[in-house]
Amino acid sequence: MTEPTHTSATMSGVTPAGTGYHEAARDHLWMHFTRHSTFEPAAVGGADQRVPVIVRGEGHRIWDDQGREYIDGLAGLFVNQVGHGRTEIAEAMAKQAGELAFFPLWSFAHPRAIELAERLAGEAPGDLNRVFFTTGGGEAVETAWKLAKQYFKLVGKPTKHKVISRSVAYHGTPQGALSITGIPEAKKAFEPLVPGAFKVPNTNLYRAPEHLRDDEKAFGQWAADRIAEAIEFEGPDTVAAVFLEPVQNSGGCFPPPPGYFERVREICDEYDVLLVSDEVICAFGRIGSMFACDDFGYQPDIITTAKGVTSGYAPLGLMVASERLFEPFRKDHTVFAHGYTWGGHPVSCAAAMANLDIFEREGLTDHVKQHAGDFRAALDTLADLPIVGDVRGAGFFYGIELVKDKDTRETFDDDECERLLRGYLSPALFDAGIYCRADDRGDPVIQLAPPLTIGPAEFTDIASRLRSVLSDAAKHL
Ligand SMILES: Cc1ncc(COP(=O)(O)O)c(C=O)c1O
Repeated sequence: MTEPTHTSATMSGVTPAGTGYHEAARDHLWMHFTRHSTFEPAAVGGADQRVPVIVRGEGHRIWDDQGREYIDGLAGLFVNQVGHGRTEIAEAMAKQAGELAFFPLWSFAHPRAIELAERLAGEAPGDLNRVFFTTGGGEAVETAWKLAKQYFKLVGKPTKHKVISRSVAYHGTPQGALSITGIPEAKKAFEPLVPGAFKVPNTNLYRAPEHLRDDEKAFGQWAADRIAEAIEFEGPDTVAAVFLEPVQNSGGCFPPPPGYFERVREICDEYDVLLVSDEVICAFGRIGSMFACDDFGYQPDIITTAKGVTSGYAPLGLMVASERLFEPFRKDHTVFAHGYTWGGHPVSCAAAMANLDIFEREGLTDHVKQHAGDFRAALDTLADLPIVGDVRGAGFFYGIELVKDKDTRETFDDDECERLLRGYLSPALFDAGIYCRADDRGDPVIQLAPPLTIGPAEFTDIASRLRSVLSDAAKHL
């Protein structure tokens, strides 16, 4: 059997037009959140920095166009839960494309969206039974804010429209979701954004006010009470929803302190404000359960998610809303006038069904629950390094905060961050054969979120690669 030409071209690192991947990417591809100057031709005598091109994946391993192998320490982008190269998902997608490649969910339905909605409603806690499909996480967040606004209009509270979220949290790039995002640097270029989004402190215990650092519970109460305070400041009759991740990603994996979500739920009930659990990263086993609100024992009104629902084999996002929120939409001529052509694409829904079959058959959520402590313990061995300030996270989702001075918790200034993260860590980690993220949207962190299929042998391997790179880091400041 002859190989399809695109596959052999992929392996040889040359496009069908005969251009090298690096050159064609540099000249034609506009990469996301990317500083393109990095890949401009180098000055005479300098080395040309290549666009890294990943051509293949198998399990938790990926290969670049030079044939080099890496551990996928970030599951692509917090996406690939079941690992790469699962042909049964590819086959389910091909079968669906042959049967019905596309049909929209605009007043019509198709079997895969129906089956998947029923399955996800069965997994979601409490009365979260109504599934609205999008193509990704940002659209799911956008959808949840729009639903919150319209719901309150329909139930006679038309002034409730504002939203609250946390500092340094990332909730996506559509303009509403970007308003909810708490990273000023990510928003600056696009302002003014959608008005009505307010920020409260996140749950970074390592950077908590000094008098609360040694008392997680008190810190959790304090952080939750900041939400009540913001609602009071804005006026309870103007606030519609609070958007929180179970474990906040941006800033480097902030788990909720004990009692935090319990108090947030009370506050939301007291002020009639919807609690949106943004589980774009945390759902589908990343923390342990199918939905991470179950890991922390709280009941949201809406879950937004994406990524792991298909393990990245096809794009899909979704919002799961409670029966209460759907109720007014059952009546009269009421319509949620919102949707996306590709939302709930049949091929993506088929991928999600096959992905969830693998979860069930291989017991992936139990695997994460069983081995989360081992992963944590492997990363904790790095705590003796002078640059490692904090190791934190949950499930298969960890952040390692890097500091200049461990005793004072002093962080790096902008120039040091530039030299450390971009100048040294990102390329050095990649050279050490591990793809993960060195991020400074908050304080500098290394983030890990590998496929959920890995186990103790890989935890040790990841920790030892990190050790070799981090041991040398101080020399590169
Ligand atoms: C918590 C959270 N919400 C929303 C988004 C946006 O998702 P997407 O990139 O699929 O639009 C992300 C992306 O990482 C996320 O982590």
